[in-house]
Amino acid sequence: MSEENKNLIEIKDLEVTFQVRNKRMKSVNKTGLLHAVDKVTLDIREGETLAVVGESGCGKTTLGKAILNIVKPTGGEIHFAGRDLAACSRKEMQLMRDRMQLIFQDPYESLNPRQNILKTLTEPLSIHRKDLGEEEKSELIQHYLEAVGLHSIENVLERYPHHLSGGQRQRLAIAAAMILEPVFVVADEPVSMLDVSVRAEILKLMLDLQKNKNLTYLFITHDLSLAWMIADRIAVFYLGKMVEIGPAHDVVHRCRHPYSRALVSVIPTVEDSSEERYVLLGETPSPMLIPEGCRFHTRCWLYQKKGCPVQCRTVQPEFVTVGQDHMACCHFAEELES
Ligand SMILES: Nc1ncnc2c1ncn2[C@@H]1O[C@H](COP(=O)(O)OP(=O)(O)OP(=O)(O)O)[C@@H](O)[C@H]1O
Ligand code: SF4
Ligand SMILES: [Mg+2]
Repeated sequence: MSEENKNLIEIKDLEVTFQVRNKRMKSVNKTGLLHAVDKVTLDIREGETLAVVGESGCGKTTLGKAILNIVKPTGGEIHFAGRDLAACSRKEMQLMRDRMQLIFQDPYESLNPRQNILKTLTEPLSIHRKDLGEEEKSELIQHYLEAVGLHSIENVLERYPHHLSGGQRQRLAIAAAMILEPVFVVADEPVSMLDVSVRAEILKLMLDLQKNKNLTYLFITHDLSLAWMIADRIAVFYLGKMVEIGPAHDVVHRCRHPYSRALVSVIPTVEDSSEERYVLLGETPSPMLIPEGCRFHTRCWLYQKKGCPVQCRTVQPEFVTVGQDHMACCHFAEELES
């Protein structure tokens, strides 16, 4: 990670809501607002891996897509390399987008099964790098095939995605994302569909590319232990809101939000001296019916332990600084020592 800690991306009060049908609503049109990302403020620093962690539906993918301008924010601001994305012209936005890429959980989401590897890697260059001649394009393709370890496959350029194993397909998707030489990559659960045996290889590949190309990653995962292994910082999300952010080691070993603590307590390798299990109560509420006060109170073990304080039910907690570069959003974060 860069020593200067310069921000590549600055997100302020970001909101993404969707108008959706809700069968439970009695009104005539039966639509309601779903709060997928709810007033999130966060910076992503040049050269870092920031992991976004939280259970299914908490808004991880929507956050990544909003940064990439794939979904339109309904509120707040996103600045990329100092530029307010909402103020960019279409042309400027295209230039910005060329510097950002997305790696999906399922490589087939980005790969066209009817295109061979040559076409898969040539097409983005033909569209976005018109300045390159044929020889330069071939050199780049060769370079990225080597960088992702696919160069030794026989007649590799003529192969189709279905000729490759799951791990090789993800390598190809990574090459296709990297060939435009982005500075920022959103990796959305990039190893969760792969066999355990190839996960480590793909993660190593991604971290090697990051080092060599000075990339910044937003790494989306539901797996806190994976985030802990590979990220510089971790942001924990719950029901559309960020609830804790800090250095990966501190978020795991000195976590200060009861939700993060519940996630940590199920990581088998983290020693838990108190041997206490912090169980999440009940079900995650609907993002269309977000609880009043602290949205986590319906599932919070600390709320129960403290005798259900009224403050938790009525007042949204603010972020408090709980350590160096470490913040948590709980009324009792300062008490919650490890
Ligand atoms: N296009 C859409 N229209 C309506 N609702 C959406 C849309 N995209 C996402 N949502 C809803 O927004 C919420 C956040 O979704 P999102 O996909 O960002 O969650 P996630 O954290 O990535 O979940 P997962 O771990 O399952 O991928 C969910 O309730 C989801 O159903
Ligand atoms: S503010 Fe209250 S309900 Fe929310 S996380 Fe803290 S203790 Fe739990
Ligand atoms: Mg997702």
